[in-house]
Order: sequence, then structure tokens, then C-alpha cells
Amino acid sequence: MNNFVFYSPTEFVFGKATEMQVGTLARKHGARKVMIVYGGGSVVRSGLLDRVKQSLLEAGIEYCLMGGVQPNPVDTKVYEGIDFCRREQADMLLPVGGGSVIDTAKAIAAGVLYNGDFWDFYIGKAKVKKALKVAVVLTIPAAGSEGSGNTVITKLDGLQKLSLRVPEVLRPVFSIMNPELTYTLPPFQTACGVADMMAHIMERYFTNTQEVEIGDRLCEGTLMAIINEAPKVMKNPEDYGSRANLMWAGMIAHNGTCGVGCEEDWASHFLEHEISAIYGVTHGAGLSVIFPAWMTWMVEHNVDKIAQYAVRVWGVSESGDKRTVALEGISKLKAFFSSLGLPVTFRELGIENPDIDRLADSLHRNKGELVGNYVKLTKQDSKEIYRLAC
Ligand code: NZQ
Ligand code: ZN
Repeated sequence: MNNFVFYSPTEFVFGKATEMQVGTLARKHGARKVMIVYGGGSVVRSGLLDRVKQSLLEAGIEYCLMGGVQPNPVDTKVYEGIDFCRREQADMLLPVGGGSVIDTAKAIAAGVLYNGDFWDFYIGKAKVKKALKVAVVLTIPAAGSEGSGNTVITKLDGLQKLSLRVPEVLRPVFSIMNPELTYTLPPFQTACGVADMMAHIMERYFTNTQEVEIGDRLCEGTLMAIINEAPKVMKNPEDYGSRANLMWAGMIAHNGTCGVGCEEDWASHFLEHEISAIYGVTHGAGLSVIFPAWMTWMVEHNVDKIAQYAVRVWGVSESGDKRTVALEGISKLKAFFSSLGLPVTFRELGIENPDIDRLADSLHRNKGELVGNYVKLTKQDSKEIYRLAC
């Protein structure tokens, strides 16, 4: 196990009706005026936004509102938000929604206190040293942004989708997680969330770092719980217990606990970010296509942990050779994704002829000559993985 620092100061407030505590929590965390950020309107239709406003008013917290954040959020909305936040002199960002809304709010929180262009942070030209506080009301378990210090934004000009990770500044001060808020999710979004949280665990699990037994077992156990719970919510969207377990799993998957002390991979995410940037697909659906392809490529290049995963997570018999065991595990993963209605090929994702050269060129321009860690991928390797996903 490698040395590590794990800093996770977020206060999680979990359970039924917890959104009614947002006002008192905001006050406790020092807010005077919050800027509520939301998406295309699901929180308006469900009545959640009204309840959040009511709770803020009762606690004597002022608010201003910015809606209209789109999935795969873009830089232009961040610029708009930075201007608005400065004009309104809000001192806390309150995203009410999923990863797209939370990531936009984090970008605004950092951008407001920076004199230059906020995009400098994403291209590594500047480091985020301070940000306004961010607090979250979560409506979809998926991206894990409610517990992470990460944000992912797409620059519209050039369709560059880049992530930024600053846990010491960008982790939310509190996150409200009411599983009932997820009852209204369309089945496809629920399934995409499942694929994303599984991917967040697998990016950490597939490591060459030795003696990470705690991490391995946390990953395997959480994956097995997700595999058990997901079909239940697909069948009964108002199964509180399963919704609750999935919501907490999405947080565990990405707040860093599963990966402490190991060298994480993240190639599948970077391969996917190019797909969602260029083709506008939902992140989780891009991952259900790319992750099995990445694993299939790994069977020929670094099979050990893929085989271990097949045995421990999917119950594949250890008796065959490692390649056969690993491939059987990948088949089970694909069958599971398919059973949730997720795509496992580019074609099923609605992309008949992916422009593999463009995807790989953009990936390596954004992320460098080598991508990932489990096996460091060259551009040629990335192209082979994209081809395996066809
Ligand atoms: O916009 P509204 O109308 O709210 O609808 C949203 C949106 O269309 C809808 N939705 C959310 N909660 C709902 C609901 N509909 C009905 N009922 C509810 N309770 O779901 C759609 C997707 O929302 P979005 O916020 O885009 O989903 P998600 O949480 O999956 O976020 C995806 C974004 O996060 C990034 C992804 O790349 C993508 O841009 N990621 C962020 C990460 C992070 N910050 O740590 C890590 C991830 O790996 C990921 O890259
Ligand atoms: Zn993800």
C-alpha cells in the first residue's frame, strides 16, 4: 500500500425528508446568501426546488437562482454563473441535482474567487487555492460529485471535456441525500448511474499496487451490493431500501475510500469523456460500452486482476486458465449492463461508425502520450480499445 492523504470533510445528511434541513445546515456552515444551481427542470416539476426555497427562507438564508444546466455541462454556463454569483454576492453554491449541476457549481465556486479564466484550472495553467463553499442536494446517484473534490466540464469551443480534482478545496461542505428524490428518475438514468458508480470502483480496483486488501475487499463488496440492488430498483422504482443502498454506494464509489493507497487507473473514464464530448451521449452509457472493451484488451496485456475480479465479484470458477476466467467475468458484466437496458457497443449507443482517429487524437492531445496506469495506453492501444467497443 502506498502512502496517502485522505481528507473528506463533507457532512452527509442522509434519509427521508432531509432536504427540509437545507436551511439550518446552510446557516450552520456560515452561509448568508446561497446561489441555487439546477438543471433542465426535474427539480421544479418534482416540487423539490420549492421545498429547498422554503427551508432556506425559514432559516433566514437569502438565495438567488440559476437553472438550465445541461447534462455534460459546458463552460458557457460556468461563465454565466460566475458573473451572476458576483453580481448577487452569494457566499455559498447550492447545486440541487446531479453531477452536471454539482460540477458546474464547483467550477463557479472556484472561478468566482479567481481573477483569470476559470478554464485555466482544467488545463493545468493555474491551481485552485480557494473557492466559495459548495453544498449539495443530490437527486441522482451516479457521478459521486456529492462526496468528491472533482468537477468535469466541456469547453464548447473544440468540445474538450476535462476533469479537475482538488479534494482539499472542492469537496462539498455538506450533502443532503434523500433516496426518495430518486424515485422520479427515468430507468435509463438510473441504469447509467449504476454503470458510472461501478466504473468509479473499477477504476480504482484495477491497480498494480500490491497489498491493498482493504481497498480490494471494499471494492468487491460494494460492487456486489450494487449488482444485487440495481435490478430491484429497475423493477420497483419506489423500493426505498434499494434506492437508499444505491445512493450511498454512489458516494462510497467515488469519495476516494475505495482507492486510498493504490495507483488508480482512469483510462476508461478518459476514453469515455471523448465519446460524451464529441457525441453528446450520457456518461454512464459511454462507460457501459467502453469499460468491458478496456477489460477485454487487458486480458491480453495484464490479466491478473481482471481474473481476480471475475472470480470474486461474478463468482466465476477459478478452475480454468486466467484468460478464460477473465473473459467469463467480462461476459457477465456485459450481460448485467444489457439486463439494465444499457448499451455495450458503439452501435447500441447509437453511433454506427465512430470516428476512432478523432477520438484517439483528442484523447492523447488532452491527456498526453500515455493514458491510464494499469497498463499505460499509447494512441495505438486506445484505438484498439475503441475498435473492441464497436
Ligand atoms: O436536468 P434535469 O432536468 O434535472 O434532469 C436530469 C438530467 O437530464 C435528470 N435527473 C437528475 N435527477 C433526476 C432527474 N430526472 C428525474 N428525477 C430526478 N431525481 O438526469 C439527467 C442527468 O443528470 P446529470 O446531472 O447529467 O447526471 P449525472 O449525475 O450522471 O452527471 C453526469 C456528469 O457528471 C460527470 C459526467 O462526465 C457528466 O458530465 N462526472 C463527474 C464526476 C465528478 N464530479 O466527480 C465523476 C464522473 O466520473 C463523471 O465524469
Ligand atoms: Zn464517471
